[in-house]
Amino acid sequence: MGKVIITASGKGGVGKSVFTVNLGAVLAERGVKVALIDMNLGLRSLDIYLGLENRVIFDVADVLSGLCAYRRAVIRDKRFPCLHLIPATQDRGKSASAFCGEAVADFYARIGECYDYVIVDGPAGVGPDMTRAAAGGSVAVIVTTLENVSLRDADMADRVLSEAGVARRVCVLNKVNRDLLRSGIFPGFEDVSTRVRAPLIGIIQYDENINIAANCGFPIVIQRGSYIEENFNSIADRLISL
Ligand SMILES: Nc1ncnc2c1ncn2[C@@H]1O[C@H](COP(=O)(O)OP(=O)(O)OP(=O)(O)O)[C@@H](O)[C@H]1O
Ligand SMILES: [Mg+2]
Repeated sequence: MGKVIITASGKGGVGKSVFTVNLGAVLAERGVKVALIDMNLGLRSLDIYLGLENRVIFDVADVLSGLCAYRRAVIRDKRFPCLHLIPATQDRGKSASAFCGEAVADFYARIGECYDYVIVDGPAGVGPDMTRAAAGGSVAVIVTTLENVSLRDADMADRVLSEAGVARRVCVLNKVNRDLLRSGIFPGFEDVSTRVRAPLIGIIQYDENINIAANCGFPIVIQRGSYIEENFNSIADRLISL
């Protein structure tokens, strides 16, 4: 059974989806089988971040409603033979369907029979959509920036995920700007451990190349030897060892 990793945040826009595609890509480059599942129902993004938006036919809602087997919704990425995507629905009507957490957990378990890692891109917030997306997850990566609001929301997400039964929760700091960090306006790394209970397992800088790559439909880690690829590989190592 593959490991089910949930990305969450509390605050929106912190970089969960970009994190998900890059984590998936570094793992897939190692030859392990990775399924990315976009659970941001109604607001999908992994398809665009991977440049696969023109290949979407079936989606998560079609699978959960029993319209098709999950294999029919899988999109293969030619650049990463081991990386597969199941996109979220973009249809508000379909996403409003009452899929319960149990059905979602069962869906992940079925996929986990064929993949080493199932990485779920969850929605922002700490409401029912997030807890449903987290159902059956064994590890959650809570992505946060160093902003006070984002840190507080990350800690709230940690608490809600714990209550939802996600046993291991870790935190990744994203969009870190070293100049702002030095200015002292933003909390320092040492503050993160006091403000977010989940242990910090990685730091990713703010880098406009990440933003550009996402908008052009490729994971930035495709560019070998960059410090960003190194950061993602270290995070992947820590997640594997959990
Ligand atoms: N480290 C980074 N450096 C620069 N830009 C980044 C970085 N990480 C993410 N971004 C940019 O931030 C924006 C939001 O990223 P993303 O969509 O991954 O956030 P999200 O948390 O998934 O948002 P939502 O809560 O809406 O799902 C995107 O424009 C993305 O390219
Ligand atoms: Mg997102």
